[in-house]
Amino acid sequence: MRITRPRSVPDLDPAAVDLADPQLYATGDPHAVWLALRERNPVWRQTLPDGRSFWSVTRYHDVNDVLRDHTRFTSERGTLLSTLAVDDPAGGKMMAASDPPTHTAMREPLSKALSARSLRRWEPRIRRMVHRLIAPLADGVAWDIAEASAAFPMAFTGTLMGLPERDWPRLTQLTTMAIAPDDAEFSEGRGTLVAAHHELFEYFADHLHTTRDSADDSLVGFLRGMTVGERRLRQDEIVYNCYSLLLGANVTTPHAVAGTVLAFVEEPAQYARLTLDPGVVARAVEEGLRWSSPANHFMRYTKRETELSGVRLGAGEAVVAWLGSANRDRRVFADPFTFDVARSPNRHVAFGFGPHYCVGAPLARIALRILFEEVVRHVAEFEQAGPVEHLASNFVAGIKHLPVTARLRPGAAERLDAARAAEPRREVVP
Ligand code: HEM
Repeated sequence: MRITRPRSVPDLDPAAVDLADPQLYATGDPHAVWLALRERNPVWRQTLPDGRSFWSVTRYHDVNDVLRDHTRFTSERGTLLSTLAVDDPAGGKMMAASDPPTHTAMREPLSKALSARSLRRWEPRIRRMVHRLIAPLADGVAWDIAEASAAFPMAFTGTLMGLPERDWPRLTQLTTMAIAPDDAEFSEGRGTLVAAHHELFEYFADHLHTTRDSADDSLVGFLRGMTVGERRLRQDEIVYNCYSLLLGANVTTPHAVAGTVLAFVEEPAQYARLTLDPGVVARAVEEGLRWSSPANHFMRYTKRETELSGVRLGAGEAVVAWLGSANRDRRVFADPFTFDVARSPNRHVAFGFGPHYCVGAPLARIALRILFEEVVRHVAEFEQAGPVEHLASNFVAGIKHLPVTARLRPGAAERLDAARAAEPRREVVP
């Protein structure tokens, strides 16, 4: 998605804007549209040409209300605009598409398995993977950091889930097809979304079958042994949750990397601050998350008639909470269109809010922190080396291509070459 810095509230007619159109996010200016909505129509109803309609909320506090209050806003009918008005078959089976108490029963054990404490032992492996990822910077030629980052999440989530490395490229491709079926670079025709879902579900069903008798202490094995109340998860529930974990990681993390590096390219002084004080990396990661807001929106349906910022919503209506907009709300963030690596406080909602707050947030934070620690250790300065291309998706604020060159720090090229030359270890689950 194009990340712009509108200087004033644009004078635009919201009725002329289609917030569901994936192309708006590839070539349009969603930040300008959201700004206009936040200031003039914070709770806005759009009707699509086929008659389906949805509410959009763009202010931080409304977004939080929608995501927090499952008694008024349910996740069980679907949480993405791409499934508007079609009840989600995963409702009540997949954690992300469940309400408490089912949601809580699934979430509690999984969030322990994915806590920062449980993940600590993975940090050295993630650092090795990061070295391999950024090694091409040593070549001194243009390197597409957006394309390279697309493979990054599989390196840690694929490892954690115990998925064979030979499958990672196809899984990366399938998860992108599932969130950007209209992007020409990833589309495989009209049925792209359905085909990607089908292949992913089949993949996990097969994986469960082939690993059924093996001792498996991966995340998939964890799901297999997990109990919800008195019972084990059923096969379809395990498959849906595997899908959700993979998608959650794959389609978001790369865009936090690319969005942050693009901000560094556009504002070299901010990157220079980081190189002078690497202690700022953790805060820079948070600002990069706010700035890029890789998950654009999540959707809910009203369970009954309700009210948001003085507007009445009927029962059973779809409400889309625009996270990227909430993260630019001047009511919460000073100078919201300024990228500030040391921003504090920074209560962004890039990971959502309330009961569905991203269960992978500790993993994403660890991976991004390690990545930017290593970038700062090796790179003195970035320069853009070609045009930026943005993903056509109303769900993921994505960058497809960002060619850069880097001026390396003394000794960095040798260290990166050594990382590349090192025998790639098989990253297996311990
Ligand atoms: C920068 C990276 C990431 C971003 C921006 C992000 C964003 C989000 C957001 C906004 C939600 C809330 C959904 C809702 O309210 O309906 C969410 C939930 C979720 N995320 Fe992430 N995510 C990231 C990384 C990950 C990773 C690495 C994983 C897998 C380990 C993951 C798996 C999930 C799952 C399974 C949920 C559903 C949680 C629930 O329903 O309780 N995410 N994510």
